[in-house]
Amino acid sequence: MNNTIGERRRIIAVDDDIINRMTLEAILSIDYDFTAVSSGPEALKLLTSQLADLILLDINMPEMNGFEVLAALQKNPQTCAIPVIMLTGDLDQETEVRGIQAGAFDFVHKPFIPTLILRRIERTLQLKALQHHMQQEIDKQTAIAQAQLASTERLFREMIETLADTIDAKDKYTRGHSHRVADYAWEIARRAGKSEEYQRDIYYMAQLHDIGKIGIPSSLINKSGRLTDEEYTSMKQHTTIGGTILSHVNEMPELADGARYHHERYDGKGYPDGLAGAAIPEKARIIAVADAYDAMTSKRSYRDALPQAVVRQEILNGRGSQFDPVFADIMLNMIDDDVHYQMREGLV
Ligand SMILES: [Fe+2]
Repeated sequence: MNNTIGERRRIIAVDDDIINRMTLEAILSIDYDFTAVSSGPEALKLLTSQLADLILLDINMPEMNGFEVLAALQKNPQTCAIPVIMLTGDLDQETEVRGIQAGAFDFVHKPFIPTLILRRIERTLQLKALQHHMQQEIDKQTAIAQAQLASTERLFREMIETLADTIDAKDKYTRGHSHRVADYAWEIARRAGKSEEYQRDIYYMAQLHDIGKIGIPSSLINKSGRLTDEEYTSMKQHTTIGGTILSHVNEMPELADGARYHHERYDGKGYPDGLAGAAIPEKARIIAVADAYDAMTSKRSYRDALPQAVVRQEILNGRGSQFDPVFADIMLNMIDDDVHYQMREGLV
């Protein structure tokens, strides 16, 4: 738009009647940079080399009528925002309704009354300038809001990753466990055709699934020998402790599910609640597969990562008993795609 302060605003009139063109020129050329053309195609051609701030458009013209010109202007992203005032020869209300529906900004009746046409044009230009200013303000505020949202999301992600590091640091045998489980859970969700929002949520849930280990003594977590029954009972409490810690995150209530239910089994023989099948939150069922996979493909004090064939067999054995068969199958596909066995601790 050529409406910079100090610059004359540009108006193009399109009318096949020379008398009308001359009348408009007499009225408008003092205040505006005015050009008159006699047909629609001529106007459209002119607009390709120089835009206008406003167009005055006759309706009844040979070649292209006013409505056709208006439609062509609106189809072109360069010209669609230029306000169009239609010039009508009579008081045909039907034509005016059609014009407004087609996107005309206003109407001016012939014969032209100079004061009236000048007022109409000035008012249209002011409204357009105001609209432009408001749009700029909306764009600015939207950009600020988007930047703030992105920053909040970044902060949230970084806080979660830091917490995950804190959990993993407590366990010398499972460095990076939370991050890897999050990666695997995210990939299972992606392959299951889940939405991006779902994938992001499960990524966060998986990062924090073991957060309850914060409440378990380090000596127990890092014990290299077999746990006694009593120790195992304490260890199992990391699910309920984690669920309680994360239940305070009201913005994302699901976070607590990952922590509480990731040791539930599909057959109902897991802990802490012995839930079975669909009663276990779906995301926790995905995390359970990812968690077991990472446990087998990570080094332990007493063993190396298990061979891929063994891991595959274990997932297969647990299909439908320990694991939801749908997500176990996806894990099996992931294993089969991983021909060089790259998906394991130290390589991911
Ligand atoms: Fe766990």
